[in-house]
Amino acid sequence: MYQTSLLASLSFLLATSQAQQVGTQTAETHPKLTTQKCTTAGGCTDQSTSIVLDANWRWLHTVDGYTNCYTGQEWDTSICTDGKTCAEKCALDGADYESTYGISTSGNALTMNFVTKSSQTNIGGRVYLLAADSDDTYELFKLKNQEFTFDVDVSNLPCGLNGALYFSEMDSDGGLSKYTTNKAGAKYGTGYCDTQCPHDIKFINGEANVQNWTASSTDKNAGTGHYGSCCNEMDIWEANSQATAFTPHVCEAKVEGQYRCEGTECGDGDNRYGGVCDKDGCDFNSYRMGNETFYGSNGSTIDTTKKFTVVTQFITADNTATGALTEIRRKYVQNDVVIENSYADYETLSKFNSITDDFCAAQKTLSGDTNDFKTKGGIARMGESFERGMVLVMSVWDDHAANALWLDSSYPTDADASKPGVKRGPCSTSSGVPSDVEANDADSSVIYSNIRYGDIGSTFNKTA
Ligand SMILES: *[C@@H]1O[C@H](CO)[C@@H](O)[C@H](O)[C@H]1NC(C)=O
Ligand SMILES: *[C@@H]1O[C@H](CO)[C@@H](O)[C@H](O)[C@H]1NC(C)=O
Ligand SMILES: *[C@@H]1O[C@H](CO)[C@@H](O)[C@H](O)[C@H]1NC(C)=O
Repeated sequence: MYQTSLLASLSFLLATSQAQQVGTQTAETHPKLTTQKCTTAGGCTDQSTSIVLDANWRWLHTVDGYTNCYTGQEWDTSICTDGKTCAEKCALDGADYESTYGISTSGNALTMNFVTKSSQTNIGGRVYLLAADSDDTYELFKLKNQEFTFDVDVSNLPCGLNGALYFSEMDSDGGLSKYTTNKAGAKYGTGYCDTQCPHDIKFINGEANVQNWTASSTDKNAGTGHYGSCCNEMDIWEANSQATAFTPHVCEAKVEGQYRCEGTECGDGDNRYGGVCDKDGCDFNSYRMGNETFYGSNGSTIDTTKKFTVVTQFITADNTATGALTEIRRKYVQNDVVIENSYADYETLSKFNSITDDFCAAQKTLSGDTNDFKTKGGIARMGESFERGMVLVMSVWDDHAANALWLDSSYPTDADASKPGVKRGPCSTSSGVPSDVEANDADSSVIYSNIRYGDIGSTFNKTA
């Protein structure tokens, strides 16, 4: 990728004068974010982990100069004549996390601002957790028979924004060893993938996605190319102050790790269920499941005007790390009180407050949705992905495809809102339009903190 560039730019620097490089290139310094690993016997231990910004947000310029290879929505096709050439000629630069991207850390807390204005305007961001004391390897999470816990402050995230904390099955080195043309790797946040098989990724498999690149009609910083980047995804947390969901999404068995799709495999448009990954997932959103007072900013059980703790447990068939994943449980802790996830408030679902294959089947039947989660492998497939290891992703974004209405409003907007599964949150169907939120809610932000994981029951105080 841009990375050939990095090595090339280094040799260029040695071969010629250093002066050209100094002051213009930003050193990549990963903000430190302490996390904890916990065991039942030993308690929690600090890990000196850090975060890295995704490659798509970075300045991409020529190796031997500072001409942009990509600007706004467009590749410079005089440089990027094709994907391979582009990977040779273009370099990915370091990031100024706070001033350009509005991303900062302090101790165990990460703050991500929505809109950041410097010499340019940055919208949203996506970062990955690097392994302890490493600058070039993502931490790989293997969470079967384990739990994952973090604190979140969504009080400054209104309708239409999504503060998301989730896992994607990216390569731990960002694809560096698999694709020799990728010289940047995890140090520069390469290798993103998820179950939507996104086409807006600028470099996939060590090549620029320049073929048939098409500018977005609504996002002046994005476009889509011929290829998509697919992989298994576990959405621990997609939320704003009005609604939240946790959602496993899986892909066909052949999709192990990051997988470049093209054509029908990407599951685009009318072919949503014909691709290799399950784009719908199987979500548990308390509001959508009939409990409209469980989560929110107006006297709800979970009061989103204040920070709280989110606990997610990955239960296996035999309660070992090798058994098949069978259930994903959720608990919250706020004001020192442990709060079990709400139960679904529909007759055929009333015994469920967690995600299992039975819950997914009953929920899809009730809402009349296609159970593509089951078709693609169900919860056991999610477990296989966690057995190989997944990368932690934290982001904040607005939604140019559906205004985040699938999360916090009635969706589809033309469906009868009294039909089970249509209402997902209290936000208006006219909310979440990117041009509105980027103008009116520019100073929104989310804080993720106190990330800890390990044995079931070891990461939070049960008797608090
Ligand atoms: C690229 O776009 C052209 C015209 O828009 C289309 O005819 C062609 O099939 C596309 N090619 C690929 C590989 O997507
Ligand atoms: C908050 O809840 C109260 C009582 O249910 C209701 O009367 C009021 O309209 C709500 N306010 C908002 C902003 O939703
Ligand atoms: C919503 O969840 C809370 C907490 O579990 C519970 O007390 C309340 O009865 C639930 N409401 C509905 C309508 O299910």
